[in-house]
Amino acid sequence: MKTYKSLDITPLKFENGKLTILDQTLLPIDEVYIEIKTKEDMWDAIYHLKVRGAPAIGVVAAYGLYVEAGRYDGDEIEDFISAVEKAAVYLEGARPTAVNLSWALNRMVSCLKGQECNSVQHAKEVLLLEAVKIHEEDVNACKAMGEYGLSLLKPGIGILTHCNAGTIATSKYGTCLAPIHLGQERDYNFKVFADETRPLLQGARLTAWELDKAGVDVTLICDNMAATVMKNGWIDAVVVGCDRMAANGDGANKIGTSGVAVLAKEFGIPFYMYVPTSTIDMNTSTGDDINIELRDGKEIYQMWYEKPMAPEGIKTFNPAFDVTDHRYITAVITEKGIVYPPYDINLRKIME
Ligand code: MRU
Repeated sequence: MKTYKSLDITPLKFENGKLTILDQTLLPIDEVYIEIKTKEDMWDAIYHLKVRGAPAIGVVAAYGLYVEAGRYDGDEIEDFISAVEKAAVYLEGARPTAVNLSWALNRMVSCLKGQECNSVQHAKEVLLLEAVKIHEEDVNACKAMGEYGLSLLKPGIGILTHCNAGTIATSKYGTCLAPIHLGQERDYNFKVFADETRPLLQGARLTAWELDKAGVDVTLICDNMAATVMKNGWIDAVVVGCDRMAANGDGANKIGTSGVAVLAKEFGIPFYMYVPTSTIDMNTSTGDDINIELRDGKEIYQMWYEKPMAPEGIKTFNPAFDVTDHRYITAVITEKGIVYPPYDINLRKIME
């Protein structure tokens, strides 16, 4: 049995007014923190997945907006607010699917506009306080989801996960990996199977790295091996994160998630989606209304290879997310509790 090694790694650090993020594109080889000094740095880091995972994107963007606001050197409060609003709109354009990005930026702007700031300096302080609040709330939400999630999982079971909804995808602990870290502390001895998660390999590079580092028993598989491990009887539960959940319970998450959900139903395995309330978008009615990010096809056949692994000029289709229909989701784990179907009614109740 492996022993638990508490994880001290965080996706971001904010110290003495300086924002640094762990460059997740360099993992698992290098653990390097890079500084975010401008809105352009922030946009680039989000777009290129140096910071990724819905909650982490939201929290980092909130600090990033504060950092950008800090560069404003005038003393006109109206101009300052308008500059902050423009920067928020610009940052929101970096990635469309994870609602946490627009959620956190809107919250920063609304908070600023809702206060009677008597100086630009005061307004900057208001922004910092709100970013810190968003950050702290996320840490607490992940902790709570860990406890609720663990109540659904028996010691010693096999768990399949897809992508990375762990400690570096959030402020701390993770969403769907939070109960696994917690279970490890409490000797649950889970046997975790991590889908590699093509094309960007978040499962191989991040989940396998994070769980192995924490001493969890983790086995890496290719995405197309999920049916085999289920058929072998090795999987008792599937746990995944979410980038945006619509009001009817349809949940967008990393491409490949919906296929895993369909398989889980076929094999009679519960499929749990971990969704902090910051990821539930009551303004989006169903999964059909979620904007799915399309990325460069070279991620499929070139990015990880010395030579292109497809004919020159091949047509590609590279959606970064898919939508799992609510009927495949056994339960939604939020920081406010576990939500069961019918989701159109029960999500509304929890969001009130
Ligand atoms: O493209 P990514 O790596 O940002 O996608 C991340 C996911 O799909 C995660 O599962 C999701 O954001 C939940 S993170 C707690």
